[in-house]
Amino acid sequence: MRTIEINTPSGISKILIGERLGNLRQYLPETRCIIITDANILRYYRRELPDLPIITIGTGEKSKTLKTLDYIFEQLLKYEADRSTFVIGIGGGIVCDVAGFAASVYMRGLRFGFVSTTLLSQVDASVGGKNGVNYKGYKNMLGVFNQPVFVICDPTMLQTLDEREFKAGFAEIVKAGAIKSDTLFAYLEKYYAEALKANHEVLEDIIYNSVKIKADIVAVDEKEKGERRKLNFGHTFAHAFESITRIRHGEAVSIGMVLASQLSYKLGLLAQADVKRVRSLLEAFQLPVDAGNILKRAVSAMKKDKKREGDTLHMVLLKTIGEAIVHQLTFSQLEALVYDLR
Ligand SMILES: NC(=O)c1ccc[n+]([C@@H]2O[C@H](COP(=O)([O-])OP(=O)(O)OC[C@H]3O[C@@H](n4cnc5c(N)ncnc54)[C@H](O)[C@@H]3O)[C@@H](O)[C@H]2O)c1
Ligand SMILES: [Zn+2]
Repeated sequence: MRTIEINTPSGISKILIGERLGNLRQYLPETRCIIITDANILRYYRRELPDLPIITIGTGEKSKTLKTLDYIFEQLLKYEADRSTFVIGIGGGIVCDVAGFAASVYMRGLRFGFVSTTLLSQVDASVGGKNGVNYKGYKNMLGVFNQPVFVICDPTMLQTLDEREFKAGFAEIVKAGAIKSDTLFAYLEKYYAEALKANHEVLEDIIYNSVKIKADIVAVDEKEKGERRKLNFGHTFAHAFESITRIRHGEAVSIGMVLASQLSYKLGLLAQADVKRVRSLLEAFQLPVDAGNILKRAVSAMKKDKKREGDTLHMVLLKTIGEAIVHQLTFSQLEALVYDLR
């Protein structure tokens, strides 16, 4: 097992990579503890969970809502949760985002920890202290920055993941390499086949290195004023795809990263050969790399996005593999560039 500690103004978080669900008990305080999870986790892991009250929420993005929070608060009241209660979110990004938010606002904040169970949440969602829910169709509109006390990343739990879900997680790993580490990127180019076969040693290495990259960024910019924006590489496009099609987050990020790399080339920042490396690595992980005919609709969706800042947007681009920059573009510049890619 390897540990990474994230120190931020809102707290210290310990990420335990390679720890097992079976050891969860030893991280829990003496006070009352309550688990928040979903039906899929219960189906596979109920017998391995400590004997504690369980609040079960629905699966998928449709459950990341105020309605689910309402249900959780009702259950917390039923179990007489008080300020000393400790909440444990066990699941993927959805469970962790919702459980973290519920714990953060119930009675002005309970302490909480996560067992992160998807590849995407182990390398990204459960690290960094962003918690929240969607609102009126807008992703992550309501939420807080608050660090979990611990995050257990048990790679053996990834065996029960749906194959498509597993592959989607690699998009965020490629992202970490692309924006911050040519070493990780090259490692992925070398060992992608072993990673896809869920070779434990390779997976643990990859998870550790991706978390380390995110942890270092979050430590200097927890609230996303500058450096943390780089983690949004590929995401401006990805969120637009997610709003108009039923695509997994990681898949949308994969297509978004190829587009952002092509834009970087168009703007004279990135070499053509590096655009090809980004595309080829994502293809090696069997992820989608072409937006096809939804690109135009995606750009219109981006223009309508209420969360955008005026007429410009911050687009994360690459200078080289392992080095990202944040570039301000107007929508008309973006439109011209995107249509030129076709
Ligand atoms: N907070 C952040 O910083 C951050 C970062 C990235 C993504 N996210 C959020 O994460 C969410 C996506 O998370 P996700 O990709 O983990 O999806 P998810 O939480 O929906 O999990 C995917 C599916 O796999 C099931 N599952 C989870 N673990 C399993 C296991 N070990 N075995 C079998 N089935 C399992 C779940 O029940 C679900 O059906 C999005 O809402 C996204 O916005 C948050
Ligand atoms: Zn993401």
